[in-house]
Amino acid sequence: MKNRDEAWALVEEFVQDMGLRRHILSVASSMRFYAVLLKYDPEFWENIGLIHDFDWEVHPDLDRHPIEGAKILRERGWDEESIRVVLSHYTEGTGVEREKPVDFALMACDEITGLIIATALVRPSKDVRDVRIKSIRKKWKDRRFAAGVDRVHVETVTAEFSQVCFNGELTLWEHIANVLEAMQGAAEVLGLDGRLAS
Ligand SMILES: [Fe+2]
Ligand SMILES: [Fe+2]
Repeated sequence: MKNRDEAWALVEEFVQDMGLRRHILSVASSMRFYAVLLKYDPEFWENIGLIHDFDWEVHPDLDRHPIEGAKILRERGWDEESIRVVLSHYTEGTGVEREKPVDFALMACDEITGLIIATALVRPSKDVRDVRIKSIRKKWKDRRFAAGVDRVHVETVTAEFSQVCFNGELTLWEHIANVLEAMQGAAEVLGLDGRLAS
């Protein structure tokens, strides 16, 4: 298994866009959070977050992402289990079904980070640590806000994650609170620590 430095080096090599880097880091911090909570390997789960979209900038369509990205991972000596998890985040295109906790966690953390980032960026402080669940709830209801975040999809993948890892007891808003907490803990890494405030 590769370590975090190797995963991050891959991101730095393939991803120049700061928005995509922030997405990747947000998912990675959420994955680490859940690995700790569920007693899985935090470094492995975080690395999955780091590499899941590493090829999106070079393969910005679902004909190539993540299938072509997986080939690069294989060439670079990434282990088959990491590659399998990455492929499972787009079952429709790859045919790789989600089966393990880490697969469902990745799906559940992926899109919701976008709503939290967008909510942080419309605050004057541009600091994710100032974001409250209440504001995310408002933004959730306003379907024009961060319209790319498919609320129904988020509900579906969260319910699946809840079923597989929490006996169905993790609610949507508990999940969103967890992802928010994970991202708040990584505010500096995400650049959502107020440095973007004008
Ligand atoms: Fe993706
Ligand atoms: Fe993603």
